[in-house]
Amino acid sequence: MRLKQKIILLNIGTLLIMLIVLGIIISNITDNYNLNTRLQYLQGQSEYAATYIEQYVMNKSRSFFDVPALMESNAGYLAEFLERTVNGRVQIYYGNSLLGDSEDIIDQNTAIRPEVAQTFQKNSAYFISQGPNRTFYYAAPVVIGNKYTYSVAFIYSLAETDKMKKNTIQMFVITGIIASMIVLLVGTAISNMIIYPIKSLHRATKQFSKGNLNSRADVFTKDEVGELSLTFNAMADNIHEMITKLNYEQEKQKNFFDNFTHEIRTPLTTILGYTDLLWKTNDEEVKDRSLFHIDSEGKRMLKMVESLLELSKLKKFDLELNKQTTDIKRLLEEVCDSMHYKARRYNISFRLKLEPVVYIVDPDMFKQLVINIIDNSIKYSKSEFIDITLSSADKLKLVIEDYGCGIDPKNLESIFEPYYKVDKSRNSKIEGWGLGLSIVKEIVSKHNGYINLSSVLKGGTKIEIIL
Ligand SMILES: Nc1ncnc2c1ncn2[C@@H]1O[C@H](COP(=O)(O)OP(=O)(O)OP(=O)(O)O)[C@@H](O)[C@H]1O
Ligand SMILES: [Mg+2]
Repeated sequence: MRLKQKIILLNIGTLLIMLIVLGIIISNITDNYNLNTRLQYLQGQSEYAATYIEQYVMNKSRSFFDVPALMESNAGYLAEFLERTVNGRVQIYYGNSLLGDSEDIIDQNTAIRPEVAQTFQKNSAYFISQGPNRTFYYAAPVVIGNKYTYSVAFIYSLAETDKMKKNTIQMFVITGIIASMIVLLVGTAISNMIIYPIKSLHRATKQFSKGNLNSRADVFTKDEVGELSLTFNAMADNIHEMITKLNYEQEKQKNFFDNFTHEIRTPLTTILGYTDLLWKTNDEEVKDRSLFHIDSEGKRMLKMVESLLELSKLKKFDLELNKQTTDIKRLLEEVCDSMHYKARRYNISFRLKLEPVVYIVDPDMFKQLVINIIDNSIKYSKSEFIDITLSSADKLKLVIEDYGCGIDPKNLESIFEPYYKVDKSRNSKIEGWGLGLSIVKEIVSKHNGYINLSSVLKGGTKIEIIL
């Protein structure tokens, strides 16, 4: 059963129980009062009847001895006369025998009523029959001249009292029906008011349990339901915050490992490239250069792996800068030299215009940044030259420019997003994760610098870095 139905049923139930109890009490009180009034009335009538009968008989008799005969002959008349004042059937007895009856005696019942028997002891007595048509039996002694005791009995119909009792009960039944209907209407309205906030809370929790973390309960009232809604909302806020934090951490972790695997690829390619060259060449100078690059890229890789181990031990997935005064010109020359082998495969040559600049950067990260940009120009541009210009007024300015295919302006906005590639086709000959430029952007922002990328389709791409 729904809560709403329970509330309404409870209200109607309480009301009906109250009406039934009240009805019983009130109808009993009024009925008792009415019976009492009748009793007093009959008492009064019996006193009047006794006086009247005595007077009547005494007036008519010449001596005491005439009384029995007079009573026998006049009892019928007296009963009929008294009936008119009492408004009920009147009987007059002498001992067990009925002398007169205001109504025709239909069955000659020999047994007399117990109330009449009571009058033999000079007491009056009464009895009220039960049932739908009640009758009041009242009997009182009539003593004539202290010698003869007769009985006068009233058989008085209680139809009017019964009717009143019936009316009272009917009134309560009608009141009960009307009140129940009112309670039904008012109860529905009130229970709707009570239930609406509960329903809203229920809706919110259901939505939340289905994964809608933004679902909150409306708070309508300041009662217990209102408090519950507030508690739920606070709990939902906490859970939401915790999940966002967890997601953020997970995202950060994923980014870290993606970037790491991305960056470890470049030294490996360089090492494999120069190893290949070593097999083929006899030129001592080329051998020397190859070994130098294999050694330096190998060391860089080792450093990367060590820092990865360190960070994973600390559960910290943020690359920390290890800034130091760095000869940027030399760093750029080394990078170009190490990428020389790859550039040659694409028939591209570097043109360096490098001013001697010494600046405080994280040398490994700066190297990654330059490698990623040059790697793109080599892979994508089909340019003949890559111009690398380094200058410094008070800030470091590095420009890397190619004159190749360029990038469609509609793609420029998204180019720095992780996993974004202009040519998404799987058959693309050029391998790449779409991570290079997003890493470049992160490294630049870690150095509090700016990056500008301008590109003209079929005209080339220019990347400017200012630190
Ligand atoms: N110099 C450029 N000339 C033409 N297109 C470029 C150039 N630089 C970047 N792009 C385009 O921008 C996209 C994003 O470059 P990004 O370096 O982020 O990813 P990627 O090179 O595809 O993959 P990854 O660097 O992870 O190996 C590339 O897929 C490429 O289409
Ligand atoms: Mg790239």
